[in-house]
Amino acid sequence: MFVDDDLFAQEVRQIFGRAWLLVGHESQIPNPEDFIQSKMGTDSVIVTRTRQDKVVVLLNSCRHRGMKVCRVDEGKARAFTCPYHGWTYSTDEERVSRPGELAGVPGFDVHYEGRLDKAEWGLKSARVRAYKGTIWATWDEQAPTLEAYLGGMLKWLDSALDHRNGDSGGSTLLVGVQKFRVRCNWKFPATNFVGDASHAVTHNSANMIKLNPSGKDGRRDERPSGHAAFGWPDLGHGGLGFLPRPEEEFPRPDTFQQFPAASNYLRAMAREHLRKRAGGIHYQGKGTIFPNMSFHEDQPRTLVVHHPVSATETEMWRYYLIDADAPDEIKDIFRHYYMTYSGPGGMTEQDDIENWESATRQSLGGMGQGLPFNYAQGLGESEPCDLMPGAVWCGRTITEQNQLIWLKRWQEFMEGRSWDQLMHRVEVEHDAVFPLKRSTAGAK
Ligand code: FES
Ligand SMILES: [Fe+2]
Repeated sequence: MFVDDDLFAQEVRQIFGRAWLLVGHESQIPNPEDFIQSKMGTDSVIVTRTRQDKVVVLLNSCRHRGMKVCRVDEGKARAFTCPYHGWTYSTDEERVSRPGELAGVPGFDVHYEGRLDKAEWGLKSARVRAYKGTIWATWDEQAPTLEAYLGGMLKWLDSALDHRNGDSGGSTLLVGVQKFRVRCNWKFPATNFVGDASHAVTHNSANMIKLNPSGKDGRRDERPSGHAAFGWPDLGHGGLGFLPRPEEEFPRPDTFQQFPAASNYLRAMAREHLRKRAGGIHYQGKGTIFPNMSFHEDQPRTLVVHHPVSATETEMWRYYLIDADAPDEIKDIFRHYYMTYSGPGGMTEQDDIENWESATRQSLGGMGQGLPFNYAQGLGESEPCDLMPGAVWCGRTITEQNQLIWLKRWQEFMEGRSWDQLMHRVEVEHDAVFPLKRSTAGAK
């Protein structure tokens, strides 16, 4: 399943043609007529803010012969003209009835005798939802709302998107998006970040050189205790995090000690956070949102999308987040630290890439192609979580339940199930795949 071309073609249609996908961040298109080129699965899309201040996502394929109408990464435009035969699509609703509609065709009167229905031949548009700065899109009109699709994972995503002072949202991107090609199947990074135990082994060299912002042992500063794996069997999302607990009880270790300005900033933000959210529940975690978006809430604070290119190639897009109103000095410190940690020049990303590329290469081998993999680590240790309806969690060990949860979701999409079934309004039996602790899940 990691190298098969037919399966890949099916994934592109069944998964990327239906799921909610992260396509960008609002801070990339702050003003009317700003646009970026992004991706949904293997498709190029235009993400733009119209003159009327509406964010729209359009398939970047001309309706005449499919030529890419927008060929630059970003810019400012209210119309896109295809370089092949010159069809022009407008996003200005003063000019057309919907953004992306066909507005001009060379030789319209002569070649078509004015009979071409421009309203019918506009760029295909996706459903769009902006959430705390992030922009998401789906091709599927029947898909549930983004919030329903994310379910309980939303609170963990918030831990990356919210301001460090506790305000909802308020984050922006640090400079641009790092984009890099990796010769691996996209499912390797997606399932890696849903939670696995590779990190202590894989990143040992980074640990040894103390790649952390306080210069102590390890890759990251000290974290609170209570590390747990949590996953949503009905939704396919999951990750590693710290058990939700009251704000007042949430320990905040001193971090970034080698950078006093950053350390002071984070301490001040944490005090404000505690004051603003007193009595609330604190969520802190990282993970993967099915199918191909992963996030880290801190150290580094990033989002990453694993865009499929082929069965054996993936284009990773890493976005780095920062409080929008943080002083420039703080932004600089975080940017330097994040660049040494993540992305193509970052030490840990290079470690991971080597693993995923090698695993993909080995899966192309004559014997390697049919080799079954083991996903049994820590199974049977999870239990339902009272604080997170629909979730299971495991605090004793890093369990591979999350990878199975993700793979089960993959299977459900690949089978072409209806949204009723996918959202489990129709009962789906998970127990055989995710054996829960007997004491809490009852006898099986
Ligand atoms: S392909 Fe775009 S105008 Fe012909
Ligand atoms: Fe890693």
